[in-house]
Amino acid sequence: MKIALSSDHGGFDLKENLKEFLHELGHTYVDFGCSSRESVDYPDYSAAASRAVSSGECQLGIVVCGTGIGVAITANKIPGIRAANCSDCFSARMAREHNNANVLTLGQRVLGAGLAREIVRSFLDAEFAGGRHQARVDKIMALESADKC
Ligand code: RB5
Repeated sequence: MKIALSSDHGGFDLKENLKEFLHELGHTYVDFGCSSRESVDYPDYSAAASRAVSSGECQLGIVVCGTGIGVAITANKIPGIRAANCSDCFSARMAREHNNANVLTLGQRVLGAGLAREIVRSFLDAEFAGGRHQARVDKIMALESADKC
């Protein structure tokens, strides 16, 4: 799979760590920055990776900040994105199977790198279950047009 990867300064080290892991798992990635620990604004980087998922350039996204929260809030503003901030493997698997999440967000200041890698593995290995979950995801996506100002 081709993964859209990005972080702010608070997630930079984990993003770099995950590159090697994605390679080990046999995935490719596009790195949408940032490129150092220098302070940046997380919405810019989360939006860039999320747009690549939304456009179909990448199949899934992984976005990291200090907590995973700011980048998740941002990602969920991009049409077509269903971002899940996960700190455990079960939630990561459910986010794919039940919610058809297409962006995983992680908090570098919350997670150790070992757990973060296993969360990534769980997310990437899981598949959307469809069935009764499809109608629910459809209802989520319908809100994008229904609630437009
Ligand atoms: C940056 O200091 C921090 O606010 C950011 O990485 C993230 O945790 C925001 O949600």
